[in-house]
Amino acid sequence: MSLKIGDTAPDFSAQTTEGNISFYEWLGNNWAILYSHPGDYTPICTTELGRTAQLKDEFAKRNAKVLAISVDDLQSHQGWIKDINETAGTNVEFPIIADPDKKICQLYGMIHEKASASATVRSVYFIDPDKKIKATITYPASTGRNFSEILRVLDSLQLTSRFGVGTPVDWEYGQEVVIPAAMKNEDIPAKFPKGYREVKSYLRYTAQPDK
Ligand code: BEZ
Repeated sequence: MSLKIGDTAPDFSAQTTEGNISFYEWLGNNWAILYSHPGDYTPICTTELGRTAQLKDEFAKRNAKVLAISVDDLQSHQGWIKDINETAGTNVEFPIIADPDKKICQLYGMIHEKASASATVRSVYFIDPDKKIKATITYPASTGRNFSEILRVLDSLQLTSRFGVGTPVDWEYGQEVVIPAAMKNEDIPAKFPKGYREVKSYLRYTAQPDK
């Protein structure tokens, strides 16, 4: 199954390092970052999970819960967490799903058979409180993800959903955002009272609305 932007993220029950969860119930009214790992006790995943734990407050600030998954079993995850905590000087306090029968990985299309028949690639699903997939990122096993980029995408998605704006190239939180091209100039002041800057009729910037 290949999940696309706009699809509803499938619900599932899972065994995790934080106990059994039912995904929708666990998610509640939060955003979720669901991301897959090729395997336990592998170097890149160790660094990624450590970084995620270090960013706990950043995810919490954004009402985002993090859920990792790999096809290894719970006992393996529990042992590996000790290494992650030691190497990153942190505490993994988010759940890691054990999916040894690959049910959830297959449900989400995290196994790309031409890359590996048994391990997942590095997928990230950004899921909103309505359980919709708002963005996905996929890297091969050999490329670790950039968690600053994951937070940046989350900021962009949350702004888009709240204010209907877009974020331009290399945008960072606090910078100008773009006004949808379909909006007429005369409608801008009511929606974006801080004013706007027109570069082209279809390229208009305004201050980030919540700053
Ligand atoms: C890994 O940590 O998963 C990995 C390391 C080197 C090459 C490919 C994968």
